Formats: sequence, structure tokens, C-alpha cells
Amino acid sequence: MDKFSIHGGEPLKGTIEISGAKNSALPCLAATLLTAETVTLHNVPYVKDLITQRRLLEDLGATVLTPELRTHKVTAKNIETFEAPYELVKTMRASVLALGPLLARFGQAKVSLPGGCAIGTRPIDLHLKAFEQLGATVSLESGDVVARAPRGRLIGAEIGFEKVTVTGTENVMMAAALAKGKTTIHNAAREPEIEDLAELLNKMGARIKGAGTETMEIEGVEQLSGAEHTIIPDRIETGTFIVAAAITNGELEIRRCEPKHLRAVIEKLREAGVEIEDLNQSSLLVKRSAKGLTAKDVKTEPHPLFPTDMQAQYMALMTQAEGVSTIRETIFENRFMHASELIRMGAKIDFSGNTARISGKAKLTGARVQASDLRASASLVLAALCASGETQIDRVYHIDRGYENIVAKLGAVGAKIERLTDGIAMAAEK
Ligand code: EPZ
Repeated sequence: MDKFSIHGGEPLKGTIEISGAKNSALPCLAATLLTAETVTLHNVPYVKDLITQRRLLEDLGATVLTPELRTHKVTAKNIETFEAPYELVKTMRASVLALGPLLARFGQAKVSLPGGCAIGTRPIDLHLKAFEQLGATVSLESGDVVARAPRGRLIGAEIGFEKVTVTGTENVMMAAALAKGKTTIHNAAREPEIEDLAELLNKMGARIKGAGTETMEIEGVEQLSGAEHTIIPDRIETGTFIVAAAITNGELEIRRCEPKHLRAVIEKLREAGVEIEDLNQSSLLVKRSAKGLTAKDVKTEPHPLFPTDMQAQYMALMTQAEGVSTIRETIFENRFMHASELIRMGAKIDFSGNTARISGKAKLTGARVQASDLRASASLVLAALCASGETQIDRVYHIDRGYENIVAKLGAVGAKIERLTDGIAMAAEK
């Protein structure tokens, strides 16, 4: 199992390029199942979750060509099976995004019910209830969700999500795109990834209005066609590298990003003493302000407010801010796993319910720590970059799921980081 070895204390300086958004590429790849024609996606990040999603499409019978590492040309012409197997779903819960398209195009879908993960139980009850409202029958058969459209085609409906769900909204968008009649989604998720998926679907001939707002209207069509689309930049990777510049007291130019997708994060970090300058439409210049970092409270909420996927990274930064800050996690029930590892590095953090209280500025020292989930891993990398001495992070397969070439990207701006595979340092990643 791979580890990272990081010797902290180096201020990061230089330029980092942002990759495509994992959480947009995943639904966009699933959307290719909605047509027999070829859909070409550019700027797909080269990360583990997308390799898994590609395998799922191929297991279903689609052809996936990658003329270039980050371009996927998918032709879901000869789909022979409508089942996402347990082996795949257990490694990546986003496989549930196959449900909507398979149900919409073929009238049937079978997906292993995803279990919980480190950050919470993460049920998909809201997805399934919405499919039933669209006329599907949904049953649980030996751990698999089996969904069928009795008349072969879903029927448009009014869907009101009692809780904002990102992949739930995406599943319904894809299902409704081919349903008979109109679907309205109330309390829809508003993430930039939702807008990106809607843009792709509309390029394929769907008729979706209101993506990015809490009410979406979808006029079902008979069929969808091929299209070409470029995935938006990853706003969470962007936020993670902004924190990396601030926590190491360095200066980074972050390129190929989309600042308007992480306004709440930028605002909060500026409040906390991070200087973030818009260089142009797609680049930021980031450094810690001369007055240093100050503790600022934050609460995670659905977009456009502060994203839960930046909570762990923000906590690492707050260990270096003067004063006491609180972080309230309102989206997932168990998303403080990184905190116990930060404490082992010297952070001062205590908890009350879904709120963590961080007392800074704490001196961090390197330690052996263990990653528990994707963003927790990022938090530990950030802490290690400013800790004194060596930190070894175990189970870095978590970070490989969502950060493309993070060792190479950080190494190129001065971080002393290397990947240990079975204890042998790997040459810098290509
Ligand atoms: C998406 O997960 C993201 N994943 C997550 O990113 C992100 O943390 C999350 O949205 C919240 O922003 C992808 O887009 C692939 P939800 P998702 O449905 O869709 C509850 C990362 O780090 N809920 O918006 O699974 C759920 O338990 C990952 O990249 C139900 O109760 O999240 C949670 O408490 C981690 N029933 C809340 O809603 C349902 O049917 C939000 O979940 C669905 C969700």
C-alpha cells in the first residue's frame, strides 16, 4: 500500500495547473450511456475514480477510446448489460450515477446498493424515491437496487428533494432527459458540476432549464445524440492548493482554475488572512498576508456556500491561525476523521457534536498518520507541508481517487514529497 513521505517547512513557490473536476467528469461519463452516438469529453482528470468509471462503462458494453490521456470518446452503442456490479460500486459509490441513464434509455437498471463510507452512511433513498416518482418500480434484491420502467419509459413528474443531494439531482436530470413529458426538480443541488452536466446534456439534445438554481425544468425528449464537451476545472483541487500556498507561507500561481466556482471558499480564506489575487479569468496568485492567519469560523452548507469538501483542508489551515475557530459540518455525520490525525501532529482540536474547535497557532511536528477518505488525505498532506520533520501518510490510495499527480504537482513547487511503494521511494511521478 503506497505511502507519502513529506518533509515539511518548505514555502511552496511557483505555478500549479488545475485538472478537470472529478465530480463533474463522473456524472458526465455516466451521461454518455444516454445515447448510442459518440460523446467526447475533454479535460477528464487522470484519477482513480475516473479509471473506475471508465471500467464500469466498458463492463456495461460501451467502447471508451482515449486518444489523449484526458480525452474520453465514449460510444454506448452496444450495451449488453444494465448492471453495475458490487466489485465496482464498493470501490466507488458514484457508480450509482449509472442508475438514471440506464433506467432512462433501457427501462431497467441494477446497481449494488452502495454501503456507507468513512464520512457517513450516505444512503441513496432520495434517488430511489425520485425514480419511483418518475414511474419506475424500485426494489432491493440481495443487496442490489433493481429499477424498472414498467412501460419501458419513465414519465416526467414534480420531484421535491427534502434534502439537497448532488448525485441525486444528477441522477434525476439524466433520467428525466429521456422521460415522457416534463419534470420539475425542486430543492435541486446548485453545484457548478450540476451546471456542467446540464450543459453536456443540452449539447446532446436535452431540454434542461434552471441548472444552478434550486428549481430545474426538464422537457423529456425521444432520444439524445453525441456531443463534445470540456469538463470544468476542479474547484476543490483549486481550494486545496490555495490552502497549500497559505499554510506553507509560500506564493503560488494557480492556473486553469475557475475562481467563480469557489467564491465562498475564496471569501472565507481572504477573511482568514490569505491574499488571493485574480490574475485573469482563470488564474489566481495566492500567498499568506503579512499580518498572518487569523482564526475564522466556518459552517459547511450546499453550494454556493462553503463546501463540505473543503472542510478538512480548512481545518488544517486553522491549526496555523492565531486564535480559536469553530468548524461546523452540517452535510455529513462523520467528517472529522482527519482531526484525530492532526491532533497526533500537535494540533489543538476539541469537539462538541458536529462542531470542531481549533486553537491556533499550534506547532505541528511530523508523525506517522493514516488517511481515511479523500479530503482527509488532502488535509494531512497540507499539515505535513508545514510540520517540522517527516510525516508519513499511509493509505494514500484515498488521495489518488481525486487528486491528479499530486506528488508531481507539489514537488514542482518545492515540496519535499515522495511516494513510497512498499517502502521504496519512487522517482518523481511523470
Ligand atoms: C457529492 O456526493 C460529492 N460526490 C461529494 O464529494 C460531496 O461531498 C457531496 O456531494 C456533498 O457536496 C460526487 O459528486 C461524486 P449528497 P453525494 O447526495 O452526491 C444525504 C468528494 O470528496 N443523502 O449531496 O453522495 C447524504 O447522506 C466527495 O469528492 C441522503 O440522506 O452527496 C449527505 O448527508 C465526497 N439520501 C447529504 O444528503 C440520499 O438519497 C448530501 O449528500 C442522498 C443523500
